[in-house]
Amino acid sequence: MQRKWWQGAVVYQIYPRSFCDANGDGVGDLAGIIGKLDYLETLGVDAIWLSPVYRSPMDDNGYDISDYQDIAAEFGTLAQMETLIAEAGRRGIRIVMDLVVNHTSDEHPWFVDAKASKDSPYRDFYIWRQPGPDGGPPDDQRSYFGGSAWEYDAASGEYYFHLFSRRQPDLDWENPAVHEAVHRMMNWWLDKGIGGFRMDVIDLIGKEVDKQITADGPCLHGLLRQMHEATLAGRDVVTVGETWSATPEGARLYSDPARRELSMVFSFEHVTQTWDAEHGKWRSRPFELVAFKRVVSRWQAALAEAGWNSLFWSNHDLPRAVSKYGDEGRFRVESAKALATVLHGLRGTPYVYQGEEIGLVNPRFDSIDDYRDIETLNLYRERIAAGETHEAMMAGIRANGRDNARTPMPWDASEHGGFGKAAPWIRPNPDYAEVNVAAALADPDSVFHHYRRLIRLRKDEEALVLGDYRPLLDEHPEVFAYLRTLGGRRLAVVGNLSPRDVELALPAELESARVRCLIAHYDAPQSLSGRLALRPYEAFIVELAPPP
Ligand code: NOJ
Repeated sequence: MQRKWWQGAVVYQIYPRSFCDANGDGVGDLAGIIGKLDYLETLGVDAIWLSPVYRSPMDDNGYDISDYQDIAAEFGTLAQMETLIAEAGRRGIRIVMDLVVNHTSDEHPWFVDAKASKDSPYRDFYIWRQPGPDGGPPDDQRSYFGGSAWEYDAASGEYYFHLFSRRQPDLDWENPAVHEAVHRMMNWWLDKGIGGFRMDVIDLIGKEVDKQITADGPCLHGLLRQMHEATLAGRDVVTVGETWSATPEGARLYSDPARRELSMVFSFEHVTQTWDAEHGKWRSRPFELVAFKRVVSRWQAALAEAGWNSLFWSNHDLPRAVSKYGDEGRFRVESAKALATVLHGLRGTPYVYQGEEIGLVNPRFDSIDDYRDIETLNLYRERIAAGETHEAMMAGIRANGRDNARTPMPWDASEHGGFGKAAPWIRPNPDYAEVNVAAALADPDSVFHHYRRLIRLRKDEEALVLGDYRPLLDEHPEVFAYLRTLGGRRLAVVGNLSPRDVELALPAELESARVRCLIAHYDAPQSLSGRLALRPYEAFIVELAPPP
């Protein structure tokens, strides 16, 4: 089968609120994004995944949508959205919209109407239940943002279900009228020429609330196939589902093209490696490369024959890649480059989260008052009330809180990092005078230019896109190494993910009297034989000589 454009693509994620503020109100906007398209063209990305820009009361920064077919006033207008699609298109960049249909905002007209009367035609768009026998919530299901997943509605005497904030009521996907309304809306956007959808928590839409099944419900894949037929079929677009529950085998169900569901999913098994088994993200565990490689290799193997992987270190819900997996201090630049190299060498579609391409780090705010994220603030309150110490919670927030990735993009060394004229809605990273886009563009050895070269390399080297993956040095605690092979060509990807010099005996598969270096950020290797010495966070991709 001919390969799809999105298999050879690199996607850049924009969190609009934090990207660029053109109108000086402290909040990023569409005009700001349009003004930075040349920058993204220079970087070389093929698509932008745009986190939600729809009309929204912003309880969860836009993941609470009150009108799917309009733009939030603070971000701009529908006309600007159309300009963005067109202007990006002129540069060969497609716009992938965020599809948030597990829930709406409580200000969406469907919910407003549903709440106004039990007879509303929209009542069954949402999930309502009678109180439990004690008059309290129907059961003890919890919201991801803290507290009960049930909210009482005094007017009707019933509870509605919400897996996220109480201002994000869940849609009832057992109701066919919901499917039709969502499909219609998706087609409206697709007809505008967008490049596809990133589907927010899509593994939750097949839920069976009364059985307390939320993720990966029995109807899920059927709903996705139906969605595909009603909206995506016949269109050359990409879809990527956010699926925290996916196993490698499950990911194959979603992404096997023969099943006509999605192009790929975001899986999180590699992310949760650094979370505490019991306390979750609020208690961080150190990054351990051997376990991490095992996870990556399992996913690479499971999707080798059918299906496709997404590849990412970070997004708007996760900490900065360098802070989590690299070295924020002395080796910030080297570790950012090494992490990028070993990720972009894998089989799958790489996603770059805004700021990753200049090696941004977590902000480490001192006070809880500097944080803005609803999840962080709710969980801080809930866990402190349950006896957790302030210090422990702050350590968890600094390690894994979502605001780590949401500080304003630093464009230059001017006030507010050039993000906009007004003080931004969240404090900038304190280091913006040194770590910013202008400085990165001016320095040929910057993290930015390394990303640019890596992205270019995927365009030139089909073996990086479609080649088979073969892991090497599985048990090495510091080095990530693998082969990518296609039609007799053999590429080796090698990265020392530690701040130490490392020397190792080369495995036979890597021996090559001559190599052609495709990318390196220390000296370009000329050959690989005998022993290999790697500097701190040194990484490279080379083509090995064909076997004799
Ligand atoms: C996942 C999104 O990435 C996150 O930011 C959001 O809060 C939840 N889904 C709810 O929409």
